[in-house]
Amino acid sequence: MNPIIAGNWKMNKDPVESRELVEKLLQLAGDVSDRDVIIIPPFTSLPVVAEVLRGTRFKLGAQNMHWERSGAFTGEISGLFLKFYGCEYVLIGHSERRHIMDETDEMINKKLKTALEIGLISIFCLGETEKEREQGKTEEVILRQLKQGLQDIENDVHKIIFAYEPVWAIGTGKTATPEQASEVHKFIRKQFNKPITILYGGSVNAKNIDSLMAEKEIDGVLVGGASLKPEEFARIIKFQHG
Ligand code: PGA
Repeated sequence: MNPIIAGNWKMNKDPVESRELVEKLLQLAGDVSDRDVIIIPPFTSLPVVAEVLRGTRFKLGAQNMHWERSGAFTGEISGLFLKFYGCEYVLIGHSERRHIMDETDEMINKKLKTALEIGLISIFCLGETEKEREQGKTEEVILRQLKQGLQDIENDVHKIIFAYEPVWAIGTGKTATPEQASEVHKFIRKQFNKPITILYGGSVNAKNIDSLMAEKEIDGVLVGGASLKPEEFARIIKFQHG
């Protein structure tokens, strides 16, 4: 399996800026063939990014979806609409949704189920806060997120991509060390009896990418801030094996 490099643009880039960014990125890194790149722009940029990516090896993902396919859910987006634009992936349970938008493990579970049903690959995000880590609760929190998030779909874990993103490392410049990340990845893997894919996320940048990807526990990365800078993201995509 190829390493996965996913860029989550969060609430950045209007459609004009999005076109510019993804075109530049393709110029710089569109030639890679031994890694899978997933671009995750805001909803409003999905049409334009889909158009630019057509015929390239880069894949498209979305940042969230609702668990229902349609209905009276004002302001929400159906996974079916994401598929319409060619999305193959969707972030589920990103920490900004858990902590700012109060998304619960139960909601995340419903979204993971729907994504499986409609054929979107979930990038299921989990991770502890700084306080939880300090209190020695990292494993307890991860276990709860896994157990509740995956309720009734435990047999489908090989169809889901996991992303370990310690909350204290997201957007803070404080990356988990490759060893810290590996330790939690190992713990997550231990919970299942089949092989799973686990990305690391949290202040990944051009400087730390090579050492993170040198860890055999790390199957790829989920990049926020650094994915908005085409030169830096291209360098991340083209990480060098140690
Ligand atoms: P960051 O964000 O790379 O800016 O820390 C990562 C993420 O939120 O997925």
